[in-house]
Amino acid sequence: MHSYSLAAAAKINLYLEIIGSRSDGYHELATVFQSIDLVDKIDLRLSGNDSICVHCDHPQVPSDRTNLAYRAAELMKTEFPDAFAKYGGINITIDKQIPVAAGLAGGSTNAAAVLVGIDLIWQLGLTQAELQTLAAQLGSDVPFCVMGGTALATERGENLSPLPDLDNLYVVLAKYRNLTISTPWAYQTYREKYSDCYITDAQSLAACWEKVHSSPMVRAIAPKDSTQIGKLLHNDFERAVFPEYPQLMQLKAAFEQARVLGTIMSGSGPTIFALTETPEQAQLVKETVKQAISDPELELWVTKFIPTGIRIAK
Ligand code: C5P
Repeated sequence: MHSYSLAAAAKINLYLEIIGSRSDGYHELATVFQSIDLVDKIDLRLSGNDSICVHCDHPQVPSDRTNLAYRAAELMKTEFPDAFAKYGGINITIDKQIPVAAGLAGGSTNAAAVLVGIDLIWQLGLTQAELQTLAAQLGSDVPFCVMGGTALATERGENLSPLPDLDNLYVVLAKYRNLTISTPWAYQTYREKYSDCYITDAQSLAACWEKVHSSPMVRAIAPKDSTQIGKLLHNDFERAVFPEYPQLMQLKAAFEQARVLGTIMSGSGPTIFALTETPEQAQLVKETVKQAISDPELELWVTKFIPTGIRIAK
């Protein structure tokens, strides 16, 4: 086939602990990723020449190398020169539904879709492991975006352990339209405030990873214990980001008032999400928060957990 349409899912973090810093400047993490049914549609088509082109109508999505989707195509071109010589370049069209710079991995999941799509168009037959190794070169959460579902991630966020699928939860997401947070800024702010609690020696780090694998959140996921999952939501970034953006704390308080299973910021923010057990409850929570905050800049979405990252769109 010369073209593919892929659905690329956003992610939320049910748990995110920043454990320490690394010699490469990154941070050691323990996080639980979850795919949600908020998706960008990515159309990939052979360009008929040797160019890589990205098209997206969204004003905040660039078409050049600064777009991770573009860099994903460039990486494939470098890694598979014979296939590139045989098939040529790619036109990538992104229908953007996932908010940008929101802590939902919108850019990462577009890059993941480009890897999966080029693998299909160029008929490379790459394995999941091979795709994830390529994905890790593009960004820390791109490997999860390729795999999708529910997973525990350690190290930079690229070392994945799949967890049993969660299909019983609904999500309400809320984000102020013009508020975006840069991930490097969030890590830097966290480092300035809390690096005195970082774990630095290899032995303590290993003990930490081991503890995370049997943590209460991981243990609550296997039996799909939604009450516990809601209670155990945790994100270290909140204590770096909330003091700078008090409106996010107010948004979280509004969700708490709406009697949800739990509520938290996703990734480095600024999206706040809450969990419910039914779509009807999620819709009610959305209306309640919309009334409580009553700011035209506040956008809300209702969606659900899904077991897939990148899939071929219908
Ligand atoms: O890996 P990715 O390119 O998505 O990361 C963006 C930025 O977030 C990095 O440049 C780094 O500043 C920070 N980061 C980090 N530790 C991680 C992941 C990301 O410090 N585990």
